[in-house]
Amino acid sequence: MAPLPSSDGLSRAQGFLAPLQPSSSSVPDSGFLGPLPVAQDVWVVRSLFSIGSGQTEGLTYAGLRGRLLDMLGPNPIVHPALSFGNNESTGEELMEEMARVQEVVAGRDVAFRLDSTMTVVRREGKLALHSVVPLTEELLTAVSSLGEVGWLVAPNLQHWLFLPAWMEAFPHATVALVPEALGESLEDKLPCLADHKGPVCQLGQPEVMMRLAAETGLTGHMLEGAPLSLNEFLFYHGASSTLVASDSFYGGYDMEETPSWFARLWFKLTRGGSFRKTRLPIYRTIRVVSHGSPAALLQSTAQTLQGLGPVNRITFAHGTSPFTQEQFKAGRAGENKGWNGHGLKDLFLHCWRVGLVEQGATGLLLDQDLLAEKAVSSCPRCRKANFCTPALCISALG
Ligand SMILES: [Fe+2]
Repeated sequence: MAPLPSSDGLSRAQGFLAPLQPSSSSVPDSGFLGPLPVAQDVWVVRSLFSIGSGQTEGLTYAGLRGRLLDMLGPNPIVHPALSFGNNESTGEELMEEMARVQEVVAGRDVAFRLDSTMTVVRREGKLALHSVVPLTEELLTAVSSLGEVGWLVAPNLQHWLFLPAWMEAFPHATVALVPEALGESLEDKLPCLADHKGPVCQLGQPEVMMRLAAETGLTGHMLEGAPLSLNEFLFYHGASSTLVASDSFYGGYDMEETPSWFARLWFKLTRGGSFRKTRLPIYRTIRVVSHGSPAALLQSTAQTLQGLGPVNRITFAHGTSPFTQEQFKAGRAGENKGWNGHGLKDLFLHCWRVGLVEQGATGLLLDQDLLAEKAVSSCPRCRKANFCTPALCISALG
């Protein structure tokens, strides 16, 4: 797809702020970060892309621009997300966000740059690439140095954009796609699948899942109850105790990373004012309430997580990936002090549970510990629920 024209030259010419210099642990504006080893035979690669660029259906630039301006309201500069008080963005970052918003309001083409993470898993020299990022010559060389690409996995209905280039580079790789949901199908979005020389298969089919497990060490589990614009498969790499997620977990950005102005603002607007804390964006949870099943999601995910071995890290699409057990213990999730989270499985479920309740989901067996083997009560108010925080006693919400 053709990239949107960068606003940076225009901004400088018109006296707006130039982009901030990101720290060395941030994703570079061009190229990629990685492959970063995160465990034995597991790496992540992180790249920026222009979200909505070149898309004429679904997640379009015009649609995103409209959503951004709607959320900011008629006078964006006074929105709390751009306020100097009580804001995660520094003063300099806020100035950049305001300058870009002024450009968007003025109708200029401002690229919405967002980071995305690809997880690479190797077994016996063969690689599985999960949620591929934009392909460059340098990335091709870097990935090829790790092993032979055998699998290209599209883990949900939104992480498919960069598959065509990888399919061209690895014409005999197995392409594994999530099934269609609510009329949205990756087969429709990817007409190039018809010309692919390697196998093209659907996740969830027993023979596919068995071959995937045998060749890559990844087991896959459908995230039930979230079909709209998601229908994600969650993967587990048992050899390294890694949960491989995409848009079903948003770990936030750690303090070492300066995300793009768009990522900062977008997540402040959609994740309760924070781009650093671990929370799901409202559009993920709203869609489950409106078109899916909150109860099915929580119960089946709890069952899935319970059936897995230990989870020591989660890789995920947007944010500082991976999110590790050590970071969780050190408070990276940003939960209120005293939260009785027992580990990353709890955290994953907690994000969904709190987000779904906030969007009005009811009947979620709120006082039942879904990960039953750890029935420890922590809430001083209800003395039952495992996921309450001092700000939110979920059993009080019916
Ligand atoms: Fe995503």
